[in-house]
Amino acid sequence: MDKPDTFNQHRYADLTIGDVHVTNGVLLAPMEDVTDLPFRVICKRMGADIVYTEFISSDGLIRDARRSIEKLRLSDEEHPVSIQIFGGEIDVMKEAAAVAEASGPDFIDINCGCWVRNVVARNAGAALLKDPPLMASMTKAIVDTVKLPVTVKTRLGWDSSAIVIEDVAARLEQAGAAAITVHCRTRDMGHSGDADWSWIPKIKKAVNIPVILNGDVASAHDVLRAFKESGCDAVMIGRAAVGNPFIFREAKHMLAYGVEAPEPTFEEKIRTCLEHLRLQLSQKQERRAVLEFRKFYAGYLRGLYCASAVKQDVQQYESFAQVEDRLEAYIEFLHSYQLQDDVA
Ligand SMILES: Cc1cc2nc3c(=O)[nH]c(=O)nc-3n(C[C@H](O)[C@H](O)[C@H](O)COP(=O)(O)O)c2cc1C
Repeated sequence: MDKPDTFNQHRYADLTIGDVHVTNGVLLAPMEDVTDLPFRVICKRMGADIVYTEFISSDGLIRDARRSIEKLRLSDEEHPVSIQIFGGEIDVMKEAAAVAEASGPDFIDINCGCWVRNVVARNAGAALLKDPPLMASMTKAIVDTVKLPVTVKTRLGWDSSAIVIEDVAARLEQAGAAAITVHCRTRDMGHSGDADWSWIPKIKKAVNIPVILNGDVASAHDVLRAFKESGCDAVMIGRAAVGNPFIFREAKHMLAYGVEAPEPTFEEKIRTCLEHLRLQLSQKQERRAVLEFRKFYAGYLRGLYCASAVKQDVQQYESFAQVEDRLEAYIEFLHSYQLQDDVA
């Protein structure tokens, strides 16, 4: 349904999950050690419609493990937000879902797609793709336990000889899932090979609940193409947002107007990087915040003039003051370079 609304903006899809209503939805994927509160807030400020916590262990939640409980913390600014949980035992997952619900997310997401060995070994994540009836029973048990909507994020199947997603989607709908997100790869692919979006229209035919496309969406152009080619109800972005939250603004602009948004300036990139790091500091002890932030520099500084020396420096620092001084000096340097460039 590609039609302009009253403001002459295009509407590709409307997504409803419980009380959450989103048009042309562009969602931040759950990512372990990445989608913590500060990063979710930054992505929300840049236009992400819905954000997800990283997956949280159901065992950790019911044992009151500090690291798991810490991951439940949400801020008012980030709604709508979903808490994602994982586990292999239905009773534990039910209890964990109730704990997660008490933290006030907008809905609960069940991870049925994680491919890593220690998760699969616990019959959790993508292991559930080997047993669609169990995945559906787990979903129903959680739907019956919590008041909030429950969604599921999964993959196409265990491997290319066992693509079960259409059957899985129908079972999940029957079990009461409010939406399903599909990372368009099989478990054995991990993150390699290409995501196959051609499954999305087939899944859409199998169910009436919203279907969210995920996998290899790396630019605003990809987001537009995903809506147009697949007829999905929303698009979820993971890796391409790391150190590049601007992708949400760019995608929303592209969807609404059909043209590229102006690129962020170097100053906006670096100042957003600092703002993101300041948010980390408000949540964590300084050294930990600065060390954990290292994964974001490459994204924020990508493509900037002489960035590699700056990246090398900031990767070594352990205090915020060092990072701030280096990045402020870098902004000044880039301004002066730009001036010389203008004169030349
Ligand atoms: C570092 C990293 C951590 C991830 N952690 C999770 C997770 O906690 N829960 C989950 O459902 N998927 C997780 N994923 C998978 C992503 O949500 C997403 O499905 C996958 O990266 C494909 O989307 P993309 O091509 O946009 O990155 C993770 C991926 C990465 C790269």
